[in-house]
Amino acid sequence: MKVRKAVLPVAGLGTRFLPATKASPKEMLPLVDKPVIQYVVEEAKLSGIEQIIMVTGRGKRAIEDHFDASYELEDLLKKKGNHKMLRELKTISNLVSFCFVRQSEALGLGHAILCAKEVVGNEPFAVMLGDVIVDSEVPALRQVLDVHHRFNAPVIAVEEVEPSEVSRYGIIKPEKVEDGVYRIHDLVEKPKQGEAPSNLAISGRYILPPETFSAIEQAAPGNLGEIQLTDALKTLVQNGPVYGCLVEGKLHDTGNKLGFLQATVELALKNPEFGEEFRDYLKGLRL
Ligand code: G1P
Repeated sequence: MKVRKAVLPVAGLGTRFLPATKASPKEMLPLVDKPVIQYVVEEAKLSGIEQIIMVTGRGKRAIEDHFDASYELEDLLKKKGNHKMLRELKTISNLVSFCFVRQSEALGLGHAILCAKEVVGNEPFAVMLGDVIVDSEVPALRQVLDVHHRFNAPVIAVEEVEPSEVSRYGIIKPEKVEDGVYRIHDLVEKPKQGEAPSNLAISGRYILPPETFSAIEQAAPGNLGEIQLTDALKTLVQNGPVYGCLVEGKLHDTGNKLGFLQATVELALKNPEFGEEFRDYLKGLRL
C-alpha cells in the first residue's frame, strides 16, 4: 500500500533553543535561507508524500502561515516585477496538501503522533521529526520507504552515533540483514553510556503501520506523564519484524544550538549563490 501521509510533530516548546524560541516556533528558525521545517516538507514531497499532517500547539501559527498562500506578498512581488521570488513563494504553498491538528498538552512524542490518528486512518504512514534534516542525494524518507516496500514491514531510519552520545537517542538492538538494513529486536529510549544495545540511533524518520496507534494507547506514561513513541515501537517489534535502515547522507540535529550552527555552516558552504564567498570568508578567519 502506498504511503501517502506523513505526520510531523511540531508542538514541542523548543526549550533547548531558548531564548530564541520564546515567542517563535523553533521549526521556523532560518537555516541559511529557509525555515528548518521547509527542508523536512521538501524531503517529504520528494519522497512521494501527498499529505502532511502537522501536529501543532499554542504559539505555532507561523508554521501554518508559512505553508499557506500569502496574497499581500504575492501582489507586492508582482507589482515589483520580482517573478523569481514570486514563483518560489507559490511553490512553498503548493508543495503538498496540509492538515493541522492540535496537541493541547505536551505529553510526549507518542501522544503527539496519536493526535493524528483520525486523519491518518487505517493506512501505513510516515513520521518525520522536524529537528532532523538530512543532506543526501536520495531523500532520506525515500531511502526508508524503499526498504519498507522491499520488506513489507515497518522501518525506522537509523544512524551511527558515538558511544558518548547514545543517551540522547533511542537506540536499537540490531541484527544485520544486509548492508545498511537491520532487523530490530529491541529498542531502548535514551540509555546510559555503556548500557546501550548498539550505537545505532533512531534518527527521526519512521514508516509505521496503523496498529501503531493502539500500541501508543496501551503504552504506559513515564514519570512526567509523557508517552514515548519508542515504547509503542517495542510492541510492534514483539508482534512482527521491524527493520532499521541506515540512512546515507549527512544528518543534522538542528534542535540544539551547536547542531544548528554546524548545519548552517555546512549548508551555507554548499549554497550556489554565495557558498564560495562564504568559504573564502571562513578561510580568512584567524581561528
Ligand atoms: C526523539 C526520539 C528518539 C530519537 C530522537 C531523534 O527524541 O524519542 O528515539 O532518537 O528523537 O532525534 P527527542 O530528541 O525528541 O528527545
